[in-house]
Amino acid sequence: MNFEELVTKRYSSRSYKPDPVEEENLSKVLEAARLAPTAANRQPFQLIVIRTEGKEQELRRIYDRNWFAAEPPLVICACALPERGWERRRYDGENYAVVDVSIVVDHITLQAADIGLGTCWVGAFDPDAAREILHLPDEVEPVAFTPLGYPNDSPRAKKRKPLEELVRYEQW
Ligand SMILES: Cc1cc2nc3c(=O)[nH]c(=O)nc-3n(C[C@H](O)[C@H](O)[C@H](O)COP(=O)(O)O)c2cc1C
Repeated sequence: MNFEELVTKRYSSRSYKPDPVEEENLSKVLEAARLAPTAANRQPFQLIVIRTEGKEQELRRIYDRNWFAAEPPLVICACALPERGWERRRYDGENYAVVDVSIVVDHITLQAADIGLGTCWVGAFDPDAAREILHLPDEVEPVAFTPLGYPNDSPRAKKRKPLEELVRYEQW
């Protein structure tokens, strides 16, 4: 599969088979995350791999969907560590840790799709529940979750704005 095919194939899967994810495939997904670029190569992130079995009630408190808390064998929580993130100090102090984590999660979703695994970005989770259940220290920011498992649904046609609505040339 070339890159063009891969970005077309990746979709948000909201139904999962109970089949386990092989350790080898989990390793591939985590390795893709590890290789993601980060600002100044600070790598200010941590991933928490959660085996969902027996944790349905806790996961439902974080995000109450069957395809998150019950169906997939794994859920990954991607966290930023802003204290370790690169800051644009010379100008406005903007911290890039959340951007870095976003790239990491994108690597995860694309590598997963490449080996037939499904994912779905989840940003609509309860951050307080995530902090409590995952014992996150105060300085750690949960940015996104994704289920990880074999999809039990099929991709829908991608609805996207045409490029003319998204791209400008030379100036705003
Ligand atoms: C940052 C981010 C947060 C998202 N949060 C959620 C979410 O909380 N729940 C959900 O069902 N989908 C969520 N999505 C998935 C989007 O709805 C989905 O990517 C978009 O509709 C495009 O569909 P596709 O991923 O199948 O191409 C999120 C996506 C992104 C990038």
